[in-house]
Amino acid sequence: MPHALLVDDDVAFREALAEVVRQEGFSLETAGSLAEARAVVGARVPDLALVDVSLPDGTGVDLLPVFEGAPAVDFVLITGNATVESVITALRLGVTDYLTKPVDLQRIRAMLLNVARRQELHDEIASLRSELRELGRFGPLIGRSPAMAAVYDLIARVAPTTASVFVQGESGTGKELVAQTVHELSRRRRQPFVALNCGAVSPQLIESEIFGHERGSFTGADRAHKGYFERASGGTLFLDELTEMPLELQVKLLRVLETGTVMRIGGEKELAIDVRIVAATNRDPEEAVAAGKLRQDLLYRLSVFPIALPPLRERRGDVEILAEARLAELNASEGTSKRFSAAAMERLAAHPWPGNVRELRNLVQRAFILADREIDVAALPVPGPDPGGGGGMADGARLEIEIGASVDQVEQRLILATLGSCDGNKERAASLLGISLKTLYNKLNKYKNLT
Ligand SMILES: Nc1ncnc2c1ncn2[C@@H]1O[C@H](COP(=O)(O)OP(=O)(O)OP(=O)(O)O)[C@@H](O)[C@H]1O
Ligand SMILES: [Mg+2]
Repeated sequence: MPHALLVDDDVAFREALAEVVRQEGFSLETAGSLAEARAVVGARVPDLALVDVSLPDGTGVDLLPVFEGAPAVDFVLITGNATVESVITALRLGVTDYLTKPVDLQRIRAMLLNVARRQELHDEIASLRSELRELGRFGPLIGRSPAMAAVYDLIARVAPTTASVFVQGESGTGKELVAQTVHELSRRRRQPFVALNCGAVSPQLIESEIFGHERGSFTGADRAHKGYFERASGGTLFLDELTEMPLELQVKLLRVLETGTVMRIGGEKELAIDVRIVAATNRDPEEAVAAGKLRQDLLYRLSVFPIALPPLRERRGDVEILAEARLAELNASEGTSKRFSAAAMERLAAHPWPGNVRELRNLVQRAFILADREIDVAALPVPGPDPGGGGGMADGARLEIEIGASVDQVEQRLILATLGSCDGNKERAASLLGISLKTLYNKLNKYKNLT
């Protein structure tokens, strides 16, 4: 039976809430002050602590250090009036969630159910950790470099909580895979995981895609339409390429996150939603803010828990295990037993991988098709080590840039020059540039519209 601690000095409120907690199958202890709470926790550490912000001998947050050695405790703050700032500060300090008074019964019940499921998740995370030691993988994520081990630690820590997650990394580093893993290791795993690529939906449609619309709300809206938020209800919404979302929608998104409700376009009532957001971008988020592509307040709200994925060239130790895993996959599906030669593996380990894991996977597949039994360097379409020290990129051609050029101009020139040096091969250009093919198409379209 899960065990809860409820700390509040308002006796009537405490008794009412205690009743709800017991009904959901929890054993419960109550306290009216920090001092009482500390004594109670000393006797038994709860699975869930519900703690009022203002207590006679201090604030609820002062109780957090008591749970320092017990990361599995859900710490929920109860506040009379929650400002965004106070909530963000509290979440940063380690508070798992917060409730506002008067307490919404549905929300508290959902929260209690989640705590009951958590034990199961902690067992699962423990088994993933031992798998990592043995096999070098954490769920679907392959790699045992220290950089990836640090990423797994972050995932294991944040997944079971309700916090938003912000994944940042170059194209092909595995951002979407990380988002899925966070979902799989959360209490929402049996609910939907819905992914929306903000860069791939036209600006005209994106608002109705995200928030839904009522019938007749605009020309062509001949049926009511559920938005991504509603479809992801109870689960996780993955907002990919967040910086591509139009700014006015970023304002609306922030509002949804703050109020926990959405309103369909043309709708009249607010729908309560329970969705966890995992956002991703392959840009530097601070730079995106400076460039006016991402709202500072949204970044602030979403990056309560940032996860930075290292590029593959910074974890070369993982290249071999990733390549072998990809080859094993292909061997299994084709019924073959092809192997890498030692020289081929060396070549792979030395490649800079501008397109990261995606590039590696595609390249192994090409080599697999080309090779008969052994995959040797001849079958590898990657250049060998460059004696001129040009970094192995393109053909050593250079771009001269005047100081004073805008970042957008430089980006455009680099993209067009790279494309030229790849004879117009967009896939290769995108891989060299370290961006997705989709992003490259979007940019090229933009340039077309400018001229
Ligand atoms: N650590 C990893 N282990 C196994 N497969 C991986 C890993 N990282 C990435 N991949 C695989 O590489 C490919 C690219 O990963 P993913 O789509 O998650 O990248 P991304 O960071 O979202 O890229 P983009 O910014 O271009 O959208 C996928 O096929 C994914 O399954
Ligand atoms: Mg992606």
